[in-house]
Amino acid sequence: MGLSHNRLILCALLTLTVAASSTVHQRSRSTLGLNDAAKAAKKLYFGTATNADQWNDTTYYDILKDDAEFGQITPANVMKWFDTEPEPGVFNFTDGDVIANFAKRTGKKLRGHNCVWYNQLPGWLQNGTFTRAELALIVERHCFELVNHYRGQVYSWDVINEPFNDDGTWRSDIFYNTLNTTYIPLALRAARLADPGAKLYINDYNIEGTGAKATALKNLVKDLKQHGVPIDGVGIQGHMIVGELPTTIQQNMEEFTALGIEVAVTELDIRFDALPPTAEGLAQQKADYETFVQACNAVPRCVGVTVWDFTDKFSWVPSTFPGQGAACPWDENYTKKPAYDGIIEGFRSK
Ligand SMILES: *[C@@H]1O[C@H](CO)[C@@H](O)[C@H](O)[C@H]1NC(C)=O
Ligand SMILES: *[C@@H]1O[C@H](CO)[C@@H](O)[C@H](O)[C@H]1NC(C)=O
Ligand SMILES: *[C@@H]1O[C@H](CO)[C@@H](O)[C@H](O)[C@H]1NC(C)=O
Ligand SMILES: *[C@@H]1O[C@H](CO)[C@@H](O)[C@H](O)[C@H]1NC(C)=O
Ligand SMILES: *[C@@H]1O[C@H](CO)[C@@H](O)[C@H](O)[C@H]1NC(C)=O
Repeated sequence: MGLSHNRLILCALLTLTVAASSTVHQRSRSTLGLNDAAKAAKKLYFGTATNADQWNDTTYYDILKDDAEFGQITPANVMKWFDTEPEPGVFNFTDGDVIANFAKRTGKKLRGHNCVWYNQLPGWLQNGTFTRAELALIVERHCFELVNHYRGQVYSWDVINEPFNDDGTWRSDIFYNTLNTTYIPLALRAARLADPGAKLYINDYNIEGTGAKATALKNLVKDLKQHGVPIDGVGIQGHMIVGELPTTIQQNMEEFTALGIEVAVTELDIRFDALPPTAEGLAQQKADYETFVQACNAVPRCVGVTVWDFTDKFSWVPSTFPGQGAACPWDENYTKKPAYDGIIEGFRSK
């Protein structure tokens, strides 16, 4: 793999440093929250994606750090390729460390996001021309260095993000077009070597119910397992529209876990495709959150649920889907919506 002995020594040193600096977190209890409900249902966590530039909003920060609400965080942007390897072979973990240190300080689990994705790439990679051998080394180096930097701090890594088209064919991107499917085992093996304790995931959207795309991912997982490639989980993103949930969410999760892996709901939000929401709409959104969470609750190897931020104030939806929104459990003024209770109820029923 061309990974030097020095790097492996560096890994060992990093691990020792991390172990020495971890402190016991004092938990502050308020009322029963989303993470409490998840834990009571024997899940590992309820979590949220976050960006550190939102933390100067003190209301946001207070809810985020509350252990009753969130036991896990995912960096929404700062561990992506454009941020972590802005120039070839030049790594910068400054922004990612802010998130990782917050997770350590508050005793929350950390989801690494992500190693290989076609989007938010640095210019040198997006617009570069590489031979097969060159790109293979670039992928291997990136995954190794990124995962190694956070060795011992991450519960799970989205090693591969969004590899498929909605019809189940492979997404045409720089990785597939240059390396065919070989970039998948390459990235997973580099990640395993870098942090043997982290769960390695493939993460995608529109795989919430059974169908061509979910089937393609199941076939990939089977193939990887047959070839001894490390794969521990599938991340089901869960970017949904109110009133449009598939009816096969639980069955689909069961089909994934039957392959000998875990699943997690990694980016849940349920948006309105027309605004503002009506009272009826908010009730439907509550029911939809409950349905999704209940499916995870009913599947023992669904380990946790993460929302893609918790307040409409910082949701990605309006900028990506103009005219849509109100997708989160808290509204833009930090009032809990009926959706919040839907999540709690989803963890209470099987
Ligand atoms: C927080 O920081 C962001 C970005 O640095 C800035 O745009 C925003 O106005 C700040 N918000 C508050 C409440 O200070
Ligand atoms: C690393 O990233 C931080 C935050 O984006 C930036 O301030 C800093 O200048 C970068 N460091 C280098 C060496 O480019
Ligand atoms: C790639 O090149 C195009 C055309 O010059 C430019 O618009 C784009 O921003 C570049 N991509 C990145 C990620 O820098
Ligand atoms: C990728 O590899 C598969 C299996 O070896 C082959 O069938 C397929 O044609 C290849 N695709 C491309 C785009 O080269
Ligand atoms: C949030 O508060 C602002 C200011 O009071 C108000 O205009 C807005 O309608 C509120 N948003 C919601 C969703 O209630």
